[in-house]
Amino acid sequence: MHTTPGIHATQSIQDDVYAQWVKDPEGFWAEAGEAIHWYKRWNRVLDGSRPPFYRWFPGAEVNTCYNALDWHVEHGRADQAALIYDSPVTGTVKSFTYRELRDEVARFAGALVGQGVGKGDRVIIYMPMVPEAAVAMLACARIGAIHSVVFGGFASHELAARISHARPEVIVSASCGIEVNRVVPYKPLLDKAIELAEVKPRRCIVLQRPQEQAPLIPGRDLDWAELTAAAQPAACVPVAATDPLYILYTSGTTGMPKGVVRDNGGHLVALKWSMTHIYGVEPGEVYWAASDLGWAVGHSYIVYGPLFNGNTTVLYEGKPVGTPDPGAFWRVISQHRVSVFFTAPTAIRAIKRDDPTGEHVRRYDLSAFRTFFLAGERCDPDTLHWAEQQLGVPVVDHWWQTETGWPIGVNCVGLGMLPVKPGSCAKAVAGYDVRVLGEDGQELPVGHTGNIVIRLPLPPGCLPTLWSNDEGYVSSYLSRYPGYYLTADAGYKDADGYLWVMGRTDDIINVAGHRLSTGAMEEVLASHPDVAECAVVGVGDEIKGEIPLGLVVLKAGVRRSPAAIGDDLVGMVRERIGPVAAFRTVVVVQRLPKTRSGKILRGTIKKIADGREYRVPPTIDDPASLDEITGVLATVGYPRR
Ligand code: COA
Ligand code: AMP
Repeated sequence: MHTTPGIHATQSIQDDVYAQWVKDPEGFWAEAGEAIHWYKRWNRVLDGSRPPFYRWFPGAEVNTCYNALDWHVEHGRADQAALIYDSPVTGTVKSFTYRELRDEVARFAGALVGQGVGKGDRVIIYMPMVPEAAVAMLACARIGAIHSVVFGGFASHELAARISHARPEVIVSASCGIEVNRVVPYKPLLDKAIELAEVKPRRCIVLQRPQEQAPLIPGRDLDWAELTAAAQPAACVPVAATDPLYILYTSGTTGMPKGVVRDNGGHLVALKWSMTHIYGVEPGEVYWAASDLGWAVGHSYIVYGPLFNGNTTVLYEGKPVGTPDPGAFWRVISQHRVSVFFTAPTAIRAIKRDDPTGEHVRRYDLSAFRTFFLAGERCDPDTLHWAEQQLGVPVVDHWWQTETGWPIGVNCVGLGMLPVKPGSCAKAVAGYDVRVLGEDGQELPVGHTGNIVIRLPLPPGCLPTLWSNDEGYVSSYLSRYPGYYLTADAGYKDADGYLWVMGRTDDIINVAGHRLSTGAMEEVLASHPDVAECAVVGVGDEIKGEIPLGLVVLKAGVRRSPAAIGDDLVGMVRERIGPVAAFRTVVVVQRLPKTRSGKILRGTIKKIADGREYRVPPTIDDPASLDEITGVLATVGYPRR
């Protein structure tokens, strides 16, 4: 254990706060609820009458957008910056005060109402990192519509799957996104997705960016600027605390993503609480999460959390490196006087690769910078130490999931820091009863790795169910260990109660902080006419943490060259899932290693590719298949040295 520079506390009040929550969970959340503006208060804090389904703050009425914007305008923050859009890829920095953002949002909400969108209707938002994306999210919240943001790096098939499932009235999009060295036209991807989708939206609202003009389809597509210019502002609509605020699709074990539902009331309470108690950020300060609005981090900590808390949030359209150099993050922190910064370890590894000695760090005045949070994947100790040394601020790894929407395990900076143990996310936060269970459902002793679960009920802010899929919610998360939510992460607790989250127990991989399903990639490979069988595993990557590696067995009699088929497969994954999958390597093998019962030994393949020791499983059908894999992987440079 070591203590972070500048932090000498050995005792944190995090433990005391946790104990308060254990003693009176409902009282704890009722008190946190006092920080929120409600139109009508709750009948009871928690409705536990229908386990395993739990609802927070039933009977209450609230509006998320009102709490994010109007409340602050009415209570002294009208002229404070609410959002700073910083876009090195377009050379733009633009600031919106709380009043300006409220007005933009109210106008766009009016535009949506004008198109017939109302309470409970779904709106898909497929946009790059522009302020209009946040405006669209908040506008939905304002009128009680349910938004579903789809990450711009996903291709048409992924978007189509989400359209078919969410059945939106309207899709809000833009003419293009801008990557480091190319403009990505979004409209062709959108049009193709709508063509593929089982249900069609009535309208598409398209933001035309100067870099690319998208052709609009008459009768279906509307221009954002024209529409909002003519729109009347819409007022906030009270909704039930238990009504859905948004659906966020996330990778599951198959090609069909899971629609995580977030409600209004619990989400407001949990996120507001997290800003001060976890992130230790005061209203008025600048808070920056360098993520994308398409991910849970972007929802919770670019838009909602900081605005609920009266912070200035930064919306950054750029990369950690290449826009223009590895000092990009430090430039933003310095220029906007960011106090608390949050990103993924992969971004820091990319910066460290290009600026190992921190020369770019020293070019900037980071005097306002206080705490640095990392999440999205486990932070390896090397990255943590590098960041601590270069930045001279506490570096806090914290663990959460799209499903929970806010941290499960973290060193609560706002409650005084616990000593840092590199590689651990510290302790469970109040609200989460985290246990480590063995296969038989028994709790494991300290230091023993098992399935990490959370005892029900989950705290406010976590998913109450999956969209249109209560059954899937139960089967995916609640049936493995009745009474517990299965995180699908493996790890252990140490003698001090610290959590060590070491990896997934399912086929989800984490590629540059992006959560992806190898099962979905296998579905794509299996659809190739020449492929008989396939497996995709996540293998270690120095920068991205993990990247997918494909193995295929070809059908008998296939005459095309393995290289040509490999190119097809790489292209198909890019086309169907998207470039973010970073699927670049696929090898052809004669057979896949399997157990006698036919289960592919993906874990063993992964160990071979990573150059880790492995045991030949006693149940293996054909041990020689492992030698073949070892030989073939060596031809493409695995294991990496
Ligand atoms: N729209 C279109 N394409 C996108 C995209 C978007 N919104 N986001 C990414 N892509 C494309 C990229 O252009 C790239 O395409 P290429 O294969 O043609 O080069 C591909 O998807 C992979 O992108 P990315 O994952 O960004 O990898 P990279 O190699 O360009 O950069 C990092 C590596 C580490 C710098 C980058 O992944 C990063 O910043 N990661 C942090 C992620 C993060 O914040 N996650 C949120 C969790 S907190
Ligand atoms: P996502 O839903 O995209 O946020 O991904 C959630 C998953 O990322 C978790 O289930 C973990 O597997 C992994 N993860 C996120 N943060 C951490 C962390 N700090 N430590 C270890 N794993 C993490």
